[in-house]
Amino acid sequence: MTESAPAPSTSPASGHRPVRIHPSILSADFANLEAELGRIADADSVHVDIMDNHFVPNLTLGLPVVQRLQQVSPIPLDVHLMIADPDRWAPGYAEAGAASVTFHAEAARAPVRLARELRSLGARAGVALRPATPVEPWLDLLAEMDLLLVMTVEPGFGGQAFLDVMLPKLRRARAAIDGSGAAVALQVDGGVTAETIVAAADAGADVFVAGSSVYGADDAASVIADLRRAAGGC
Ligand code: DX5
Ligand code: ZN
Repeated sequence: MTESAPAPSTSPASGHRPVRIHPSILSADFANLEAELGRIADADSVHVDIMDNHFVPNLTLGLPVVQRLQQVSPIPLDVHLMIADPDRWAPGYAEAGAASVTFHAEAARAPVRLARELRSLGARAGVALRPATPVEPWLDLLAEMDLLLVMTVEPGFGGQAFLDVMLPKLRRARAAIDGSGAAVALQVDGGVTAETIVAAADAGADVFVAGSSVYGADDAASVIADLRRAAGGC
């Protein structure tokens, strides 16, 4: 029942860029995922963290669970692959119907070929950068991607603190995206709260992943609204 995302609210404070909030089900109750999706139905997409215990030291869920989430989710799936060998495994998530599939720059062997394959399967193609991975080598490839994910924690776990040192990298990425004319979303993931989202939005991010801050609250919908407001959206 996944359909296209609702029209995102815009951010006057950041040049009328759309603001998108993507709660991460990493912090949800894994025994009640369908109900947990219902708690975030006001969000733009649900962020699904796939970890293989090789690329990161943690193990979450895989393709069969994502296939089922795709069937029951009221909002599109934004899949974040923290896995080795995405060249082999990522296309399956696009075939499952994920709206976007993001693989890590550090893990991909042929990122252009992979991004093109994901797009040909109907998904948006995303490239994720660990905190120590420079953005500059990827700027020439902006036209090949739909989403650039600047990690604001070391990937692997929810509930970590936002790395302010990533703000200059975000600003450089925003300037390059604007200069390129390519329609690339700039996503941040890790430690996003109603406080840290302000600096991330100011630095140019327009898609915000939030796990523990949303699912750790009793009223997830009101946190989503707070995040949207704090990022400059309505
Ligand atoms: C971390 C994951 C994140 C995680 C964020 O490696 O990629 O998506 O769920 O969780 P918070 O928002 O709690 O930092
Ligand atoms: Zn993630």
